[in-house]
Amino acid sequence: MKVIQSNTYPIYFENSLQELGRFIVQSNYSKVLFLVDTHTEKLCLPLIKAAIPNLEDFDIIEIDPGEENKNIDFCIGIWKMMLDFKADRNSLLINLGGGVITDIGGFAASTFKRGIDFVQVPTTLLSQVDASVGGKTGIDMDQVKNIIGTFTQPKAVFIEPQFLKTLDRRQIYSGFAEVIKHGLIYDAALFDLIRAMEPEKINPEMIYRSVEIKNEVVTQDPYEKGLRKVLNFGHTIGHAVESYSLKHDKNTLLHGEAIAIGFICEAYLSVRCNKLTELELEEITSVVLHYFPKYSLNRAAFDALTDLMLNDKKNVEGRINFSLLSKIGACSTDIFCQKAEIEESLNYYCAL
Ligand SMILES: NC(=O)c1ccc[n+]([C@@H]2O[C@H](COP(=O)([O-])OP(=O)(O)OC[C@H]3O[C@@H](n4cnc5c(N)ncnc54)[C@H](O)[C@@H]3O)[C@@H](O)[C@H]2O)c1
Ligand SMILES: [Zn+2]
Repeated sequence: MKVIQSNTYPIYFENSLQELGRFIVQSNYSKVLFLVDTHTEKLCLPLIKAAIPNLEDFDIIEIDPGEENKNIDFCIGIWKMMLDFKADRNSLLINLGGGVITDIGGFAASTFKRGIDFVQVPTTLLSQVDASVGGKTGIDMDQVKNIIGTFTQPKAVFIEPQFLKTLDRRQIYSGFAEVIKHGLIYDAALFDLIRAMEPEKINPEMIYRSVEIKNEVVTQDPYEKGLRKVLNFGHTIGHAVESYSLKHDKNTLLHGEAIAIGFICEAYLSVRCNKLTELELEEITSVVLHYFPKYSLNRAAFDALTDLMLNDKKNVEGRINFSLLSKIGACSTDIFCQKAEIEESLNYYCAL
């Protein structure tokens, strides 16, 4: 059976929905609740019902989809529904959805009656290879992402590639950006595989390897004291571009699209401030541009972007903290770069 063992919980890959059925029966919970959004209720819950035909006794909490709902108001709604359904300390919450559902559901479960069990059933590529593994739960507040949250591990994660069939192309590519990141920071062989394929053809093996990498990193550093920061590669500039796009663009960038820009700029910084070679930078640039066509980044945005980076909680005394590649497949943390170097990296992207 294909299963990755994390510190405290298993991540199932093969027959994972049947495994979920087995888990529910064996665990003997007083109540089973599904948290879904409108899309996953329609597209994913039927697959669960088909795979676990004897699962009859459960309640459903449904919320509207979207990052804008990953907030305390929706969380209160979830807690109230849990009370209405008479959930007690021995209940199980099954988060069936993308990263929004696994984050807010994990948070709601980890705080309800001081914490009830929850499992993650991620249904987007991004949540399969990233959000559902590692125990970070959370909600946004006042436009600040994931500012309220807990580190709480799920009881299990069930990854079912079948769910991805209904996911639109942009969402697949967005999740694929995190797969590229896992290759860049940890596994040159995975990056080699990525160079030769299209995200539509992503196979369970690559999802498995990507989760294995995320899991290896987070189990060594569950509370983000050190090593886990390698996962931030591309995210310092990427998050700033994402926030900027949210404010200025009609068709806003998805997370993966924004961090793809971050990969190119931070690969440039990896040459300037770490040991990445020019040749590797060219390789990374061409692979990333192959999947993520160039975004028209305006030079007039540079100041706003560096301000956004300076406001980030990870920075010390006006210097901006990066996780940068030392080569394809390896990443160093806590490298500080100057504003001028960052602007150079943005210029590099603009000139492509
Ligand atoms: N906890 C972590 O470590 C971590 C890591 C990375 C990202 N995140 C969080 O993840 C969130 C983003 O996750 P996401 O990209 O999955 O977004 P999402 O949950 O908003 O899902 C994207 C869209 O796809 C729909 N959808 C979900 N599954 C589907 C399916 N199988 N078929 C068709 N449509 C489907 C959703 O309803 C939604 O409209 C962010 O809030 C981010 O902060 C958390
Ligand atoms: Zn990310």
